[in-house]
Amino acid sequence: MKKATKAAALVLTVVMMAASLTACGKSAEPGEVKDTTAAAQNENANAAGEQGEADAENAAPAAGGTLTFGTNAEFPPFEYVTSSGVIDQYDGIDMAIAKNIAEANGMTAKVENMEFESLLIALQNGQIDAAIAGMTVTEDRIEEADFSTPYYTATQVMIVKEDSDVASAADLADKKICVIQGYTGEICVKDMGYPYEAFKKGTDAIMELINGKCDVVVLDSATAQKYVSDNEGLKIVEDAAAFESEEYAIAVKKGNTELLDKINTVIDTMLADGTVAELGAQYIEAISAE
Ligand code: ARG
Repeated sequence: MKKATKAAALVLTVVMMAASLTACGKSAEPGEVKDTTAAAQNENANAAGEQGEADAENAAPAAGGTLTFGTNAEFPPFEYVTSSGVIDQYDGIDMAIAKNIAEANGMTAKVENMEFESLLIALQNGQIDAAIAGMTVTEDRIEEADFSTPYYTATQVMIVKEDSDVASAADLADKKICVIQGYTGEICVKDMGYPYEAFKKGTDAIMELINGKCDVVVLDSATAQKYVSDNEGLKIVEDAAAFESEEYAIAVKKGNTELLDKINTVIDTMLADGTVAELGAQYIEAISAE
């Protein structure tokens, strides 16, 4: 438990308040976050009023039913495929949270594994009820979905070879940068104006780094930690001034307040009673011990 706590302290910061909506560059004040959300919700209410039929589609699954979560299980320690996970073959912090949410509402959690970039579309077309995928709340994404109370704070970091001279984001200027397609890391590097190559999976980008085909991978902190502990000769370089903190939250279809309320009730409890922090410690410890 001591070790777990230490590991958690290193990379896990449980969200207590809303902070920034952007991964890089300008950040939003907590007040702004609220305003934007309220405005977005008002819009939803209006849209729902105009087309009453859409309401039925937005109804949350009932007790006894199945709650389908979309994810992209390529993001340890939040979601990954294993021989026996908490939900079928899926395991990780998010999967444990998803299971808790379903069970607290008398439902069974099911996982649909898909490309990260397909998640918000899958929400919109009703293929999934909620998306839980270490998904950062961004200004663009709140246009497309409604987000739960954030449950985790992360930041982008730079993964480089141990002998790399990269010490800050400014050093990326003449480096070959790899990112993962559609992740906030890509948005950050794009915002910084650097050229980069985007890969489908974190492991693919890490392979390029190991093979010397790229100099740096920009990725979320806890996942980066996992890859660095799995592969010898890599290290993490942080630059808190260049990469602002990000918040992970669960997404539901816009206007689905019934499900969002159910999700938030469970998340709020799990944050307050320390369950999220414990899960974080447990999974981060588990993957670094492998
Ligand atoms: N936090 C980043 C984002 O929201 C990366 C998330 C990747 N998650 C995943 N399950 N593959 O863009």
